[in-house]
Amino acid sequence: MVDINFLVFSFTLLSLSCEQSSFATLIITPAQLLRDDGNTIVSENGKFALGFFSPVDSTNRYIGIWYKRIPIQTVVWVANRNSPLNDSSGVFKIEVDGNLVLLNGGKSIVWSSNSSKSGENLVAELLDSGNLVIKDGNSISYLWQSFDYPSDTLLPGMKLGWDLKKGLNRYLSAWKNYDDPSVGDLTYRLINIHGYPEAALMKGSVEFYRSGPWNGIGFSGIQGSETNSFLQSEFVDNDEEVYYIYQHRDSSLVSVLAVNQTSGNGVVHRVSWVEPNRKWDISKSWPKDLCDTYKMCGAYSSCDIDASPSCNCLKGFKPRSPQAWRVTDNSQGCVHETPLNCTKGDDFLTFTGIKLPDTTNTWVNMSMDFEECRVKCLNNCSCMAYTNMNVTGRGSGCVIWSGDLFDIRQFNGTTQNLYIRKAASEKGGSGGSRSNIVVIVIVTVVTVGMLLLGLGGCFIWHTKRKSKGLKEKIEDRYTKDENQDDELQLPLFDLDAIKTSTNDFSDANKLGEGGFGPVYKGELGDGHEIAVKRLSKKSTQGINEFKNEVILISKLQHRNLVRLLGCCIQGEEKMLIYEYMPNKSLDFFIFDNTRNAILDWQKRFHIIFGIARGLLYLHQDSRLRIIHRDLKASNVLLDSKMDPKISDFGMARIFGGDQIEGNTERVAGTYGYMSPEYAIDGQFSVKSDVFSFGVLVLEIVSGMRNRGFYHPDHQLNLLGHAWRLWIEDKALDWIEKSIGGSCQILEVLRCIHVGLLCVQQRTEDRPIMSSVLLMLSSENAILPHPQRPGFFMERSPFKESQLSSDQLSRTSNDRTDASNEITVTLLEGR
Ligand SMILES: *[C@@H]1O[C@H](CO)[C@@H](O)[C@H](O)[C@H]1NC(C)=O
Ligand SMILES: *[C@@H]1O[C@H](CO)[C@@H](O)[C@H](O)[C@H]1NC(C)=O
Ligand SMILES: *[C@@H]1O[C@H](CO)[C@@H](O)[C@H](O)[C@H]1NC(C)=O
Ligand SMILES: *[C@@H]1O[C@H](CO)[C@@H](O)[C@H](O)[C@H]1NC(C)=O
Ligand SMILES: *[C@@H]1O[C@H](CO)[C@@H](O)[C@H](O)[C@H]1NC(C)=O
Ligand SMILES: *[C@@H]1O[C@H](CO)[C@@H](O)[C@H](O)[C@H]1NC(C)=O
Ligand SMILES: *[C@@H]1O[C@H](CO)[C@@H](O)[C@H](O)[C@H]1NC(C)=O
Ligand SMILES: *[C@@H]1O[C@H](CO)[C@@H](O)[C@H](O)[C@H]1NC(C)=O
Repeated sequence: MVDINFLVFSFTLLSLSCEQSSFATLIITPAQLLRDDGNTIVSENGKFALGFFSPVDSTNRYIGIWYKRIPIQTVVWVANRNSPLNDSSGVFKIEVDGNLVLLNGGKSIVWSSNSSKSGENLVAELLDSGNLVIKDGNSISYLWQSFDYPSDTLLPGMKLGWDLKKGLNRYLSAWKNYDDPSVGDLTYRLINIHGYPEAALMKGSVEFYRSGPWNGIGFSGIQGSETNSFLQSEFVDNDEEVYYIYQHRDSSLVSVLAVNQTSGNGVVHRVSWVEPNRKWDISKSWPKDLCDTYKMCGAYSSCDIDASPSCNCLKGFKPRSPQAWRVTDNSQGCVHETPLNCTKGDDFLTFTGIKLPDTTNTWVNMSMDFEECRVKCLNNCSCMAYTNMNVTGRGSGCVIWSGDLFDIRQFNGTTQNLYIRKAASEKGGSGGSRSNIVVIVIVTVVTVGMLLLGLGGCFIWHTKRKSKGLKEKIEDRYTKDENQDDELQLPLFDLDAIKTSTNDFSDANKLGEGGFGPVYKGELGDGHEIAVKRLSKKSTQGINEFKNEVILISKLQHRNLVRLLGCCIQGEEKMLIYEYMPNKSLDFFIFDNTRNAILDWQKRFHIIFGIARGLLYLHQDSRLRIIHRDLKASNVLLDSKMDPKISDFGMARIFGGDQIEGNTERVAGTYGYMSPEYAIDGQFSVKSDVFSFGVLVLEIVSGMRNRGFYHPDHQLNLLGHAWRLWIEDKALDWIEKSIGGSCQILEVLRCIHVGLLCVQQRTEDRPIMSSVLLMLSSENAILPHPQRPGFFMERSPFKESQLSSDQLSRTSNDRTDASNEITVTLLEGR
């Protein structure tokens, strides 16, 4: 709210000459009233106008104040919000007793300022700040001012907060809808004013976002608010008043803080007028992300949007219920690792870089210094934390929290520490609970000669298994506990058996062509069906490396990943044996005009969810950190129950060349699914997979392919089209017809919303998979506003003549001069 970190172009003054119908006056007097006949009152420098208006798509008449020179009607204040006039009979006047009133045709009062006071020269004047004031002659004090009764907009110079003497609480309340300015249930207001005040976004009486308290420089929960250079913000907190106020450092800038109920679940945002584009730009919007959701994580835990899982106990704390915590139910929160014992004497742990906890149960004393504050907290067993109220200078004031601490999030760069009580025996330390990700780059240099070592049939890694038949081997595989951690027992298949099962790799048995070679269906004598991926013979990878990679992959076990049953290595032949998926792949259904009817909304949602879980496992939950790099509809296979299983995972890892540290010179992937940074710069990360996932979600919902999408009316691709419909509130127009009847509108909208967030241009704007799952599963989660997606325009970033990923992979594997292969593995330290 105090932050606009972007370029605001200066607002150029437009000529006033076109406004001939305006009053030549700034004031209303008892003798001079305002009718609904096109006349307006204009502020001295022509910045604001006051008059009758109708919202877009409405015929109701209201008295309002708007930016006069901005061509888009921007009403910042409305008088008769809840009592519109239905015709142009209205009259706005000041009565001799100093009361400003709006009368309807029948001369009855529909709105009143309730400000009666007699005077000699009573006038109502519209000031250049946008404030409508009633005053007596040239007196400098106002009998009444519209700034005391805000609508949905906080203009520069307006106070958000309390006049304690008058008992006046100034807060923002949203319009019910874009065409209806009546008071909605979304408000933004200062709370906890008798403790450590903060601002909160509320729906009715339910708080769902808080700014964090003002720490003397900025709001503790708004990153960057301490360093904003565009705004001069002030927070006043004394016996008479508690309020927040801002001004622009450069008075030619036009930006306001406003609450908006029709955007997502309701937001408070800063919008700025960008004159060259002649439009309002949302420069900041809160809540910003999932971690801004009020009490997202439980007591004594902090939310870190970059971590997975996002909720983690603070240092020195552990989950109250480890079981619930494991399944990401954080509601019970965390407890001290070592229970407090106040009688024995406690101590404090220092936490830095966090949004201060909910201030409902705070007590403050502005004249206490830091040491007094510590003692105050220590001596009161119900005090759980303390800090300086005001970090300006050397710090001043004391705030202490009693009871559990809630709604903490991790932030970089905020300067205020929090000191949380701990048992005396615990060791000191500082906060932050982020796990470090260790990136290990394995470089394998393989010479052609090493291939020769691989002659002579399959390797026997586990001789004790040698005597078992294929069937037993497969059953072993299936009965293995998914979380089992013991030594790998990957069966080796005999080449002859594979040959027999696939009719000697006959064309009739061919299921398709994957990224690294053809895939055949095989039937073992006992009725078991398998899928055999026959890897390109000329792959230059060494046998040992291949073996190691396969062992790694075989450890990946998850119900949404295709299961690797075994492998076969014989001479130049290398094969991977997978479970057979009778229902082919997702593209077979969603892009087919007849088969798409099989997938109703429930199945589609189930599939989206399953893919998300599989991808989360690859990214975060398996002991390796694996980036798929080629997630697409044809790589999602469906089992007999239509459960989705991601295939081809790790393939890129096995065979990908020329990659180091998340950057590759040879892009292997599929256009239409590739993120901009990957397609253009070869940079991949979990976030490039997230992009592909987003494309896939939008495809599943719409039944249309991103690649090859064509719309007669515009040049946008599927992503651009989806976004456009989203911002026009027409997203539902677009969903696959065959799911229309079966769908749950909110669930579909949430999927589209999540899909759009996943395809954001900037990697940092895309959620990680754990957040995606949270968003998909939680009806109440507050989702950030999607910006324009990456690749929204381009049908394809490359010419159609370029090779698809499959072709790319094949040709590169066919290269015989590649004697050095470099494989990148990103391993996560566990
Ligand atoms: C307009 O409002 C007045 C007073 O509220 C009401 O009597 C009248 O019927 C309304 N007219 C229309 C056309 O709705
Ligand atoms: C004026 O008083 C009436 C009746 O108490 C109230 O409904 C209305 O909201 C007041 N108007 C303003 C601007 O406060
Ligand atoms: C914070 O401290 C500074 C310097 O002592 C003072 O100017 C400012 O008014 C204080 N802010 C609040 C909100 O008390
Ligand atoms: C509120 O948000 C919606 C959706 O983002 C937008 O279309 C509308 O213009 C916003 N209204 C205001 C007053 O900013
Ligand atoms: C707290 O410490 C005192 C003194 O060491 C001990 O007697 C008491 O049992 C402890 N209480 C708890 C709840 O651990
Ligand atoms: C606030 O702290 C000052 C300085 O320690 C003390 O004199 C004063 O009594 C305290 N006020 C309250 C209400 O506790
Ligand atoms: C301890 O703090 C709580 C909450 O601020 C307060 O209600 C209580 O009176 C305090 N106890 C003492 C002994 O100061
Ligand atoms: C915090 O800093 C780290 C390291 O500089 C950075 O990777 C991370 O994105 C930052 N987090 C936020 C929320 O800005």
